[in-house]
Amino acid sequence: MNFAQQVSSAAGADRLCTEPLRLGSLTVDAPAFLAPMAGVTDLAMRRLARRFGAGLAFSEMVASGDYAQGANGKAGRESLLRALGGGLSPHAVQIAGCDADSMAEAARLVADAGADLIDINMGCPAKRVVGGAAGSALMRDLDHAARLIAAVTRAVTVPVSVKMRLGWDDETRNAPELARRAEAEGAVMVVVHGRTRQQFYRGVADWSAIRAVSDAVSIPVVANGDCRSAEDACEMLRQSGAKAVMIGRAALGQPWVVGEIASFLRNGRASAGPDGATRRAAAREHLATLLELLGPLQGLRHARKHLAAYADVAAGQGGGLDPAARRRLVESEDAREVMDLLGRLYRREPEAEAA
Ligand SMILES: Cc1cc2nc3c(=O)[nH]c(=O)nc-3n(C[C@H](O)[C@H](O)[C@H](O)COP(=O)(O)O)c2cc1C
Repeated sequence: MNFAQQVSSAAGADRLCTEPLRLGSLTVDAPAFLAPMAGVTDLAMRRLARRFGAGLAFSEMVASGDYAQGANGKAGRESLLRALGGGLSPHAVQIAGCDADSMAEAARLVADAGADLIDINMGCPAKRVVGGAAGSALMRDLDHAARLIAAVTRAVTVPVSVKMRLGWDDETRNAPELARRAEAEGAVMVVVHGRTRQQFYRGVADWSAIRAVSDAVSIPVVANGDCRSAEDACEMLRQSGAKAVMIGRAALGQPWVVGEIASFLRNGRASAGPDGATRRAAAREHLATLLELLGPLQGLRHARKHLAAYADVAAGQGGGLDPAARRRLVESEDAREVMDLLGRLYRREPEAEAA
């Protein structure tokens, strides 16, 4: 019996997500989402993830104060780029901050610019973010967190979600309480990364601890942390009772993986994933979009983490480049050379060679 059959028989078909998620005015069909990742989930990556079947693809976090500056300053211009929708539908933008008025203002602006869903960051562990009492620092003051959520949900008509961790540390795992308060203030969904803030990215995500959040609210809960495959996603849903999964790091270099996982969760059929030609075209499109958005030099530099990831994923699957070519891929300042190298990443299918 293959994995899909095991899941739909022995493991229980009730784990598969056949019902669309209703998030206020928004209906989302596919139960796997691309996580917000600063410096990573640029418009190009989000477009690819959506096209390959991710239910939602979240923007990098946008600092509320920066976004409100608009095109008037460098930070403002950068945050406009981070939140760009560029035809994505649904378009999900994450905002971060600790001041309720500023978050409400940013939410209004983001919604006016076309966001279909606004997520509030209450999970980021980074010192520069929690130092400003934003991100996961909000989990230390639930009254303030609730005021902030209320300010955002009242400022916009689009649905609002909240992304959080299990709590600040092991002594204060208060995600169920924050989720309850988020629901009471009008949030339509919560995402829980199964680690505490003090863990940063250490250890393993505790999927079973997310179940207390699922039990605490009636809005959909999304489980996040260490999901790398359809098998992980099934186990994650089983342990957490969540309605969908969110995938971050595992999507680097393979934005199609989120859609593959979504499709498995929906219909129980494992897919072989896109063929080499489709992967090649996706990697090249990713680079081309970044060059167009950021200009030749900035675009190429920003693309490097993606280029390295595409190369490493391809190498792990029997393709990739020799060491000298891989170095050129991430060091070259000649976009045409990089495009050519991307063309060599994936093994050519026999029929493609013949064509
Ligand atoms: C490079 C990087 C940037 C991230 N940026 C954000 C962010 O902007 N907002 C956020 O809520 N989480 C951010 N995260 C956390 C991810 O959304 C996710 O919660 C975490 O990586 C765990 O999921 P994973 O194991 O699937 O990667 C970031 C993670 C990484 C690795």
